[in-house]
Order: sequence, then structure tokens, then C-alpha cells
Amino acid sequence: MRLHTSLTTLFTSSLLLATASANISDVLKRASPQAPDGYAPAPVDCPSTRPSIRTAGRLSDQESEWLDQRRPKTITALRDLLGRLDIDGFDADSYFQTHSSNSSDLPNIGIAMSGGGYRALMNGAGAVAAFDNRTPNSTSKGHLGGLLQSATYFAGLSGGGWLVGSLYSNNFTSVQSIMDTNPDHSGSLWQFDNSILEGPDTGGIQLFSTAGYYDDIVTAVNDKTDAGFNTSLTDLWGRALSFQLINATQGGPAYTFSSIADDWDFKTGNAPMPILIANGRAPGERIISLNTTVYEFNPFEMGSWDPTVYGFAPMKFVGSNFTDGELSDNEDCIAGFDNAGYIMGTSSTLFNQFLLNLEGLDIPEIFRGAIQGILEELDQDSNDIADWTPNPFFGFNPSTNPNAESKRLTLVDGGEDLQNIPLHPLIQPYRHVDVIFAVDSSADTIEPAAPNWPNGTALVATFARLQNETMENGTVFPAIPDQNTFVNLGLNNRPTFFGCDEGNLTGPSPIVVYIPNAPYVFKSNVSTFDLSTTDEERNAIIQNGYNVATQGNSTRDAEWPACVGCAILARSLNRTNTDLPEMCTRCFDRYCWDGTINSTDPNPYFPETILAEIQLDAGLRNMPSFFVAVAALAAGFILAM
Ligand SMILES: *[C@@H]1O[C@H](CO)[C@@H](O)[C@H](O)[C@H]1NC(C)=O
Ligand SMILES: *[C@@H]1O[C@H](CO)[C@@H](O)[C@H](O)[C@H]1NC(C)=O
Ligand SMILES: *[C@@H]1O[C@H](CO)[C@@H](O)[C@H](O)[C@H]1NC(C)=O
Ligand SMILES: *[C@@H]1O[C@H](CO)[C@@H](O)[C@H](O)[C@H]1NC(C)=O
Ligand SMILES: *[C@@H]1O[C@H](CO)[C@@H](O)[C@H](O)[C@H]1NC(C)=O
Ligand SMILES: *[C@@H]1O[C@H](CO)[C@@H](O)[C@H](O)[C@H]1NC(C)=O
Ligand SMILES: *[C@@H]1O[C@H](CO)[C@@H](O)[C@H](O)[C@H]1NC(C)=O
Ligand SMILES: *[C@@H]1O[C@H](CO)[C@@H](O)[C@H](O)[C@H]1NC(C)=O
Ligand SMILES: *[C@@H]1O[C@H](CO)[C@@H](O)[C@H](O)[C@H]1NC(C)=O
Ligand SMILES: *[C@@H]1O[C@H](CO)[C@@H](O)[C@H](O)[C@H]1NC(C)=O
Ligand SMILES: *[C@@H]1O[C@H](CO)[C@@H](O)[C@H](O)[C@H]1NC(C)=O
Ligand SMILES: *[C@@H]1O[C@H](CO)[C@@H](O)[C@H](O)[C@H]1NC(C)=O
Repeated sequence: MRLHTSLTTLFTSSLLLATASANISDVLKRASPQAPDGYAPAPVDCPSTRPSIRTAGRLSDQESEWLDQRRPKTITALRDLLGRLDIDGFDADSYFQTHSSNSSDLPNIGIAMSGGGYRALMNGAGAVAAFDNRTPNSTSKGHLGGLLQSATYFAGLSGGGWLVGSLYSNNFTSVQSIMDTNPDHSGSLWQFDNSILEGPDTGGIQLFSTAGYYDDIVTAVNDKTDAGFNTSLTDLWGRALSFQLINATQGGPAYTFSSIADDWDFKTGNAPMPILIANGRAPGERIISLNTTVYEFNPFEMGSWDPTVYGFAPMKFVGSNFTDGELSDNEDCIAGFDNAGYIMGTSSTLFNQFLLNLEGLDIPEIFRGAIQGILEELDQDSNDIADWTPNPFFGFNPSTNPNAESKRLTLVDGGEDLQNIPLHPLIQPYRHVDVIFAVDSSADTIEPAAPNWPNGTALVATFARLQNETMENGTVFPAIPDQNTFVNLGLNNRPTFFGCDEGNLTGPSPIVVYIPNAPYVFKSNVSTFDLSTTDEERNAIIQNGYNVATQGNSTRDAEWPACVGCAILARSLNRTNTDLPEMCTRCFDRYCWDGTINSTDPNPYFPETILAEIQLDAGLRNMPSFFVAVAALAAGFILAM
């Protein structure tokens, strides 16, 4: 493996030395700088079997092989977890002993982190910390630590994709370790007090001035252009994000998403499989509709299960010029297109808006020039795209693929179709997921209610999409009530299970454990377009997220951990013909949505803080007026969608 070579000339030679040694240790990390030429995609030797596009009607061989490693590890973790969760009348050890020979009988867990900018990253991070047995005290009574270790899949979208992508780009580190990062010594990871438009502090391992930061971003993106690839605002955005989300010099320009697949720890099944989501935008299309194609990115592949594209490209080689599903003999194998930051940026293109509204800010000319250059190449309506030219699916499934005739593939924010929770990859029948922990940090509620709390819109959208039989394509999803019902019944203020009764479903479907953001110890409903957060406020939102997932470490319901255990077990118990423990019946009476509807217009939603509120020392949310202006603009953009 070559170390990346695109270091800018900004650095002195002593800094170059420091950079080189940082990269050697990076090699051991779960995502690593494997790209051949820094941020620019470049030709590499082709594997003995030439890369090609496959049809979606099964799992990839790599995923199947990986599952053989991962499932046994989840089962060990599950056994410990279910033992701790304290379900009366259920003996985890004997259940797992009896069924260990057939792992497909045992529970299979997916976790999904919604979009919603930094709010979603932070609230989601709190939930992940609660699920992670590495968080101090997370395995005590009343907590849920170990659920992350028990999960098979871990999906994120937009802001939730930043969370998932960041953890995997940093050796699957824990949220706690990131919070413990000392910005003076160990870099700018999750240092959101500096907005992404300012760049990291000039301390720590980054050693940048603001001008150097912008120079570096532009240089990297120009390298990609010079290598013959289209660039879009998403390249600039993704590069900038990387400085906050990837703990490596220059935001790790050579870190690829496919490198996760080669990491020893991931390969041997020691972490769940990360999946990010984006939406396809057909040529000429402006409004993203519910039947738009949903694309997923995993360490092995990018592509879509939808009946439109219905195919997958090998992630490592996505920059190659595929035609009709094949890479002809005279075409190079291109690697490095799947830059980790670019994929996080592709899932969150909504935020490209920020780059269009820089008036009055002290932004170096080189950066303004780069934006201008890109805008001149794009038509006005395409500012929010990520350009995935060459389209790997050119000529593939031409009768159904809306982009089959285009060499250009344009992708947008995974939440633009309103399916703001990445459920799509987790309801694919080939993955056999039994239960999805769906953490919703969406900003749904609007005036006259308090803004920026979820109200079920993401679940409603997924349910509505699957009413179209073509789009349903073999997936099954539980019935979901309308948003008014969510608010009237309080389903957006505490966890709810959907799809408990298998007899009421048209086929195998996961139970959805819906975990909406709500104020336990902090009002975490900050705007999606808040670009800066002090460490203190960040930690308060993360802590609130921990309490959202654990219901205040079970102070709101002492039986919550057991009920989580019951949701995990439900499908497995049915498969193994095991009676439901009496405690689970009680849990399901309390947490399963029973079909009740109340669609009258609710009173405006003003949630009370459920437990004692964290008081911040520093003055809070003194957003510079610039951000307010951008937020208003961007909000207008969303409403226009
Ligand atoms: C990455 O994480 C693994 C497992 O937690 C650890 O063994 C390894 O030392 C870490 N690598 C680096 C470079 O931190
Ligand atoms: C962990 O629990 C112990 C004992 O209850 C408590 O003293 C400590 O503060 C807790 N630590 C954290 C990080 O919550
Ligand atoms: C970030 O990198 C620095 C320097 O390599 C290291 O000291 C620190 O532990 C890393 N932070 C995390 C959360 O991995
Ligand atoms: C999506 O559905 C709408 C109708 O709701 C239809 O007009 C449109 O053509 C569909 N889009 C695609 C890509 O099939
Ligand atoms: C891509 O491959 C096709 C088929 O081999 C070829 O006709 C076309 O010229 C190639 N395009 C580029 C930009 O290299
Ligand atoms: C739910 O959210 C949607 C999307 O923002 C909004 O249009 C609707 O008014 C909200 N309804 C309630 C009851 O909060
Ligand atoms: C259902 O989905 C198909 C395929 O995307 C689309 O062509 C059709 O317009 C959709 N139907 C409706 C009613 O949206
Ligand atoms: C899903 O769509 C693909 C492509 O259109 C089709 O071949 C397949 O039969 C569909 N599967 C189901 C279960 O409908
Ligand atoms: C068990 O599964 C079968 C078939 O999927 C279903 O008909 C039955 O209702 C399920 N039992 C329970 C308790 O959900
Ligand atoms: C729940 O536990 C976490 C982790 O120990 C802690 O940070 C949080 O403050 C606790 N919540 C409550 C309400 O005590
Ligand atoms: C059962 O299925 C019907 C028909 O799909 C649906 O209307 C109802 O809401 C479902 N009940 C529950 C509890 O999911
Ligand atoms: C339905 O919701 C409205 C508005 O919150 C409430 O006033 C009414 O009592 C609810 N109806 C029932 C039957 O609970």
C-alpha cells in the first residue's frame, strides 16, 4: 500500500515527517488511507476477475462471507446482553445453548441513525454511547450497553451518516473516546465550536490557519478535477466535513470507504456493517419523490435494491468506466473515488446550501473561486448534487433504471425523499433483520409547536413508499399511523414498537423500535442548520441522547431494558416455537402500537423536560446572525422540496 502523496506544498518539512508517521499508524485502523493518490481517483492494477456490476437479487458474496464471521460474534454479545436485560422467566444461557447450532434462529439486529445535521450526529451519538458496552457504566442495571456489539448492521443517513462514517473512519472508536478528545493534543475530531466554515483550530495535530484549511480543500478537489473527474459542491463539502470527522492529518484525504472491508478487525466480524444512504436524482428531475431510487454504500458495494437500478457496483472500483455492467478490457480499474468524506458528503448534500451563502464571511478568494468554477459547470438546479460520474450503472437494467442512458449519476441527500431514517437497507429480505432500533433526530415539528422535534414523518414516508407495489419489491414494513396520531398518542415522545404482531403482516418484517428524540435532560431540538456547538452543549445533547435511548437509565420505566430484550427476541422466539415470557406480553401491551388512530389536529407540541435539566455554564445558542440568515434560507429550501 502506498502512503498518500498529495500533501500540499503548504507544509514545512518537519510537518511532513509528522504526517508520514501518523499515516503509518493509520494503516492499522479500520478505515485507512488506501487511495492511490490522495483525494484524486487514479488507476490501479485490476484484480484477476475484472470488476463488474451485479444484479441485486441476493447478498454479495463478500457480505455473506463477512456474516459468517460476524453472526457468531453477535451471538456471544447477545447472550451477555440478554442476560443483563433481566427478562423475568427467560434464561438467556439455556436459550442460546439450545439454539446456538443454528444462528439463523437467533436474533439479528439492525441500528438506524436518522438525518438532521449536527443535532442528529449528537443525539445519535448519545444513543450509540448507550448501546456501546465500552461506555463507562453502560452495562449496569437500567442501561443498554452491548446492543451495539450485538448488532449486525449499523446504518446512517446524512447527519446520522456523519456519525456512522466518523466512527468507522476512526477505527470504530467509541463516542466516549471522542468526547474525551483533548483538542489541544489530539486533534479536531468533533470540535464543533469552530464552524465548518472556519476550519479547525490552529493547534493539535491539524496545525492549520483558516487560509491553509481552505487552500488544502481546494487543492484536493482540484487534484480530482485534474485527474479527469467531475467535481461538485459535495466534494468541497465532504472534504471540509472530513476535518471534523476523520482524525487524521488534513482530514484523511486518502481514506476510502472500501478500506473498511480490508481492516482485520472488521473482516473478522468485530463490528457491525456500516451502511450509508443517498437518493438518486434522475436527469432533469428537481423534486425528489418517494419512489426515487435509494442508493446504499457499504464497505463492499454501492448500488440499489430498488427495482429501478437493481444492481451493485464494487465499492473499491466505483470510479471506473462501466458500460452495460462490464468494464471493458481497455478500461482502467480506478480506485480512490470512494473517499470516506465524499460518501459522508453525498449522504448529506442538503448542506451544500451553506457553500452558496458565504456573503459577508471572511472566506479566502481561492475557495470562492472554486465554488464559482463548479457553479459555472452546473445548471442552477443542481447545486445540491453529488456527481458520481462515471455512472457505474450506465446501460445497466435499461428498461427500469432512470439513469441508464446517462454517463452521469447524480445523488442527493438521503433524507430528501423524507425517508429520513435509513430503514431501506435493513428491510431487505435477504438481510433477515428481526429488529431495527430506529433513532429519530428529525426536525419535523413546526410552528405553532416547538420546532425540530420528530413526529414520525420518516416512518410515515417509508410506509407510504411501500404502498407502491413496484417499489415494495419483496420488502415488508409494518403499518405506521399518520403524524397527528404520533403526536396525539405521544408516540413521538417515548419509544414505540411497530409490527409486533407477525400475524398482521404480509410476510417477514422486522419489528421497528422507534426511539424519537425527546428532552430528558436537555432541549436538544437545535436547528438542523446550526453549524457550531460548544463542547459543553455537544456533551449535553449527547447525554440527552443517552437518556433518550435508555429512558433516563430506566427512571421513566424500570422495565425498559427488559422490554428492549423482548423486542430483540420476539421473532426468534416465534421461529423456535418458544412461548413468550409473561413479562414480554406485558412489555408488548405497553410498547407495541396497537393500531389506534387519532388523526385530529393535535395541540401544539411543547414537550416538558422529563428529568432534571442540565444547566450550561456558558451562554447558549448565541448564533451569529449570519447562521440565522442561512438557516432561514436553507429552511426555505426544504419547504420548497
Ligand atoms: C484499532 O482498534 C483495535 C481494536 O479496538 C485495536 O486493537 C487497534 O490497536 C486500534 N488501532 C489503532 C491504530 O488505534
Ligand atoms: C458510574 O457509576 C458510578 C457508581 O454509580 C458513579 O459513581 C460514576 O459517577 C458513574 N460514572 C459515569 C461516567 O456516569
Ligand atoms: C485522534 O488522533 C490522535 C493522534 O493520533 C490520538 O491521540 C487520539 O487518541 C485520536 N482520537 C480518537 C478518538 O481516536
Ligand atoms: C414516481 O411517482 C410519480 C407519481 O407519484 C411519477 O410521476 C414519477 O414518474 C415516478 N418516478 C419514477 C422515477 O418512477
Ligand atoms: C467508457 O467505456 C466505453 C465502453 O468501453 C467507451 O465507449 C467510452 O469511450 C469510455 N468513456 C470514457 C470517458 O473513457
Ligand atoms: C409533522 O411534521 C411535518 C413535516 O415537518 C409537518 O408538515 C407536520 O405539520 C407535522 N405535524 C405535526 C402534528 O407535528
Ligand atoms: C410506483 O413506482 C414506479 C416505479 O418507480 C413508478 O413508475 C410509479 O409511478 C409509481 N406509482 C405511483 C402511483 O407512484
Ligand atoms: C424486484 O425487482 C426486480 C427488478 O425489477 C425483479 O426482477 C424481482 O423479481 C423483484 N422481486 C420481487 C420479490 O418482486
Ligand atoms: C409467529 O409467526 C407466524 C408466521 O409468521 C404468525 O402467523 C404468528 O402470528 C406469529 N406468532 C406471534 C405470536 O406473533
Ligand atoms: C444515565 O447514565 C449515563 C451514563 O452513565 C449518565 O451520563 C447519565 O447522566 C445518566 N442519566 C441519568 C438521568 O442519570
Ligand atoms: C394491521 O394491519 C392492518 C392492515 O394493514 C393495519 O391497518 C393495522 O394498522 C395493523 N395493525 C397494527 C397494530 O399494526
Ligand atoms: C384525539 O386527540 C385530540 C387532540 O389531541 C384530543 O383532544 C382527543 O381527546 C383525542 N381523542 C381521543 C379519543 O383520545
